[in-house]
Amino acid sequence: DNGGYEHYLLKEISEQPDTVARTLRGRIDDRFHIAHLGGLNMDARETRSFRRVKIIGCGSAYYSGQIGAQLIEELARIPADAEPASEFRYRSPVVEPDTLYVAISQSGETYDTLAAVQELKRKGGRVLGIVNTVGSAIARETDGGIYLHAGPEVSVASTKAFTSTAVAFALLALHLGRVRDLSPADGRRICDGLRRLPEQIKEILTLEDQIRELAKKYADAPGMMFVGRVRGYPVAREGAQKLKEISYVHAEAYPASELKHGPLALISPELPTVAVVPDDELLDKNLTTLGEIRARHGRILMVGHRTSEAADDCIVVPRNEVELDPILLTIPLQLFAYHAAVALGRDVDRPRNLAKSVTVE
Ligand code: BG6
Repeated sequence: DNGGYEHYLLKEISEQPDTVARTLRGRIDDRFHIAHLGGLNMDARETRSFRRVKIIGCGSAYYSGQIGAQLIEELARIPADAEPASEFRYRSPVVEPDTLYVAISQSGETYDTLAAVQELKRKGGRVLGIVNTVGSAIARETDGGIYLHAGPEVSVASTKAFTSTAVAFALLALHLGRVRDLSPADGRRICDGLRRLPEQIKEILTLEDQIRELAKKYADAPGMMFVGRVRGYPVAREGAQKLKEISYVHAEAYPASELKHGPLALISPELPTVAVVPDDELLDKNLTTLGEIRARHGRILMVGHRTSEAADDCIVVPRNEVELDPILLTIPLQLFAYHAAVALGRDVDRPRNLAKSVTVE
């Protein structure tokens, strides 16, 4: 049942105020400003023992893992990084006892991710799952984890599961942080920020008319560049991924500072840039990058917390705590990809060559 929406994808994008609320439900503790994550099956001593976090997943799950790694580094100050599950499993990874492994999968059935989990288990690794589908293979193989409770995701391109995964990581980072050095005041700041997300997502959804017009304006470009720095970079990668998957427009994502080391040669009026520019400590650096793109006559669509003369068009989203901003900045890019695909007449829910759940190697 697509609930009266023209496509499941739009339904799933529009559901996000509710699905994020479901991921958060019962998990925020206002007395100690901590997260309740009973499914982790770990006591405080064990939770403190990890010196590193390694996150694996495929496609959008991997990009949400990149947001997760940054959240864990920022809030818990534990070195963390994300890697595609298939790369991880084929390179005979070093599995360490003091590393916490986290496997992400909406379906819980993606073969590359499952095989990576099995390899980790065989080598004695401690693996958590961040999974949407209850009772799925990855949920069963992991030692514990966090269910997203986002409800079934039908459209091939992931949207609500991506967002809920990032929210689940914020909870995990809060949890890991509060058994370490994250102060109660910062814990409260993050709890309050998490609670604001559903309303703020609703606000972003009201931008749909503006985003539809922008998508029509940019959809005829042969390709698009997506750039972001640090917190904005995984958002740029996911924005490019969504556009590729459902509109078949070529899209590349780069860290903004890497542009000048190669891809700046591509910038021209035919290759517009989507720039993810949160109002964080890197704002000035990002605006400098926009100036470099402008100087090469590149068109710029900026997604951030303010308008800027440095861009041709701006989508302004509400601000949360800087650590949580990537969660919100992704949503306009989902709508952008959706409306670009509709404008180009694509089969939005069933893009060519792709499957919802890839259960082969
Ligand atoms: C891809 C889907 O094939 O699998 C993506 O098209 C998804 O949308 C990826 O992100 C991983 O899927 P899952 O179920 O493991 O999150």
